[in-house]
Amino acid sequence: MSTIKQVIARRIWDSRGRPTVEVAVTTAQGDVGQGMAPAGASRGSREAVELRDGGEHFGGQDVQKAIAGVNTEINRALHGHDVRDQAGIDALLIALDGTPNKSRLGGNALIATSLAVLHAAAASAREPLWHYIAQGAPTSLPLPQIQIFGGGAHAGRRVDVQDFMVIATGARTFAHALEMTAEVYRAAGQLMASRGSLAGVADEGGWWPNFARNEDALDTLVAAIEKAGFIPGTDVSIALDIAASEFGHGGQYQLALEGERLDSDALCDKLLGWVGKYPIVSIEDPLAEDDEAGLIAFTRAVGDRVQVVGDDYLVTQAARVTRAATIGACNTVLIKPNQAGTVSETHAALKAAHRAGFKTIVSARSGETEDVAIVHLATGWNAGQLKVGSFARSERMAKWNEGIRLETTQGPHRSGVFAGASALARKG
Ligand code: PGA
Ligand code: ZN
Repeated sequence: MSTIKQVIARRIWDSRGRPTVEVAVTTAQGDVGQGMAPAGASRGSREAVELRDGGEHFGGQDVQKAIAGVNTEINRALHGHDVRDQAGIDALLIALDGTPNKSRLGGNALIATSLAVLHAAAASAREPLWHYIAQGAPTSLPLPQIQIFGGGAHAGRRVDVQDFMVIATGARTFAHALEMTAEVYRAAGQLMASRGSLAGVADEGGWWPNFARNEDALDTLVAAIEKAGFIPGTDVSIALDIAASEFGHGGQYQLALEGERLDSDALCDKLLGWVGKYPIVSIEDPLAEDDEAGLIAFTRAVGDRVQVVGDDYLVTQAARVTRAATIGACNTVLIKPNQAGTVSETHAALKAAHRAGFKTIVSARSGETEDVAIVHLATGWNAGQLKVGSFARSERMAKWNEGIRLETTQGPHRSGVFAGASALARKG
């Protein structure tokens, strides 16, 4: 048995230059694991709560309270615990917090601690993280969803749709998917420059969305795929995150760019029109988190043609995934560890999805760090897909590069096959 000797937290800075929590767990044998909390900007209302200090400092974003909780209560509670008992430790963290949404100690403190425990356990087992969590079950390198244009809450609402992404459906390996995406990203930048609309990047590294209409971004994306020498829909397909909870409530949606007010049916029709016109294979949060009837109608309308991804709606909660599968809302779940708040709850949501025949996409947040743990989770849990933002800025590239490392690692801990386009056709 390898026991926990110390849990300490410190304040580090995320990709938006905001404070976040890092936790280091040390075992009595001297193994160390570190976990970092990412931060969202377009959050579901049922996510684990990020504990922030409020007040004047850093726009109220400081995390001293979250850090203090780790250094006192959590450190005391975890001391002497078997570091490999992830389920027991996560249950203890949940009980210690004592609130339904982790608002007392903070979801940020809890996920950083839980991930640090997992890393320390893998270190104590002398195994890479992905291999340690697979526990002998099949693993695969995930199919990436990569942002080309950022919008919504990540780009000052310059366009309504949050993520215009590509999936390299023709890629043979993880590294090949990145090569193909690099060409599309470059081509998209050249197209924007040639029109005089290149203006830096949004929060996740996608090109700033200088467009007059949401559909112009889709047209430009198709043009970029072609300019890069690929066949849209065959070599490279499109994925969208509408993040509709950001511009719709009570079944009413306001598209700021087009100045259009749509009800749930009208937004469904607009999206179905896009699905008919563009090579779209995946749409996330097409309707708002409170528009369950709309999500059911949309999922039924697209059938198996398109994966309908629940992010704000499902918030990485097993019970919500199981319920969504029963009523036919969505067919895929976005898996974000900090929405759940612990590794065990994150894994439970992923397992519930696979049981229900849902596909799974492990995802980063718009506020990230150099942490690459999610690449290991996606690989070791055989999630099939991975969403990390764009193909620029090192908090994103660190994760894509880690995938290359896993794919090319030889020897006893070889990470196995590339999920590829078949990840889009999985049944759980
Ligand atoms: P967030 O958004 O990390 O800013 O909440 C990401 C997403 O909606 O997928
Ligand atoms: Zn989303």
